[in-house]
Amino acid sequence: MTRVFSGIQPTGHLTLGNYLGAMRRWAEVDQHRADSLFCVVDLHALTVDHDPARLRRLSRQTTTLLLAAGLDPEVCTLFLQSHVDEHTRLSYLLECVATDGEMRRMIQYKEKAAKQRERGGSLRLSLLTYPVLMAADILAYGADEVPVGEDQTQHVELARDVAVRFNQRYGHTFAVPRTTLPPVAARVMNLQDPTRKMGKSDETGAGVVYLLDEPDVVRKKVLRAVTDSGREVVYDRGARPGLANLLDILAACAGGSPESLAAGYDSYGALKKDTAEAVVEVLRPVRDRHRELCADPAYVEGVLRDGAEKARALARPTVDAAYRAIGLLPPV
Ligand code: TYM
Repeated sequence: MTRVFSGIQPTGHLTLGNYLGAMRRWAEVDQHRADSLFCVVDLHALTVDHDPARLRRLSRQTTTLLLAAGLDPEVCTLFLQSHVDEHTRLSYLLECVATDGEMRRMIQYKEKAAKQRERGGSLRLSLLTYPVLMAADILAYGADEVPVGEDQTQHVELARDVAVRFNQRYGHTFAVPRTTLPPVAARVMNLQDPTRKMGKSDETGAGVVYLLDEPDVVRKKVLRAVTDSGREVVYDRGARPGLANLLDILAACAGGSPESLAAGYDSYGALKKDTAEAVVEVLRPVRDRHRELCADPAYVEGVLRDGAEKARALARPTVDAAYRAIGLLPPV
């Protein structure tokens, strides 16, 4: 059976980008057709400045939202990265296979490092090695597929490269994973600046729809989305990024292709209104279920406990095999 692995960082409130680019597909498709593991990657959240109390809160909230989005612990494995030591054990071995040049070429590293330097702060070393830990997440489970949004493709490529190199040097140990992308909305853009990704760590949040935003807040954000000059509604990501983003979101929420949807509109106003309502409807069941789950924290804790146990049992043999392959003696 195909093995699927994916992860999400508890670094902020989850967004419509997370949902359409990744979470919804995990819940609707991946968990039902593959042996799937989904991980709240709390160790990755330590690679930038963080507040311990907020991280605890966000780790719980992220888990709860994944369940609210439809992840079913009866059919998939949902767990916290820090609960399974195999991730960090393997990460060190992979640091001995990856190179510093590879790390410095990562787009996300360059962007985050530039931002941090602008603020005058120093960089955590873990920000540089982030993609190695991510490779360990994936390779520890022998994942065949990694369903992510477009922004993570370079990291998954690195995981592939590291797996191939390890296998060549030390004998076949890891499955070589491949990225899977959603057909639309693989890169949802910020509604106020459609040249930037809609991300959880946005400073103002004005162009970001959060999964827990009230319906009226969602409507306001979508209606105020920056659109391009011109009047005609056409789908052109290069020339009309604001409009294309709305059409992508509408297509992902209401069905249809962005091109064919564009043909049905002759004003930006009507497009925005329909997009806003479509987003509200897609998020409604997630918010409702989240509210219910918040009333039952013991259930969420139980899911994480069981998930970690299952994940550990799956990862340990692969990571032990990697230790032996690279030349480390088994403990006596
Ligand atoms: P993260 O936490 O930034 O995002 C989680 C998932 O949501 C997708 N995503 C988006 N998709 C479309 N449009 C957007 N605006 C948007 N924003 C986020 C991301 O592509 C991702 O699929 N490094 C990863 C976490 C990670 C991971 C892994 C993923 C750690 N280990 C192993 C896969 C496998 C990250 O920061 O995702």
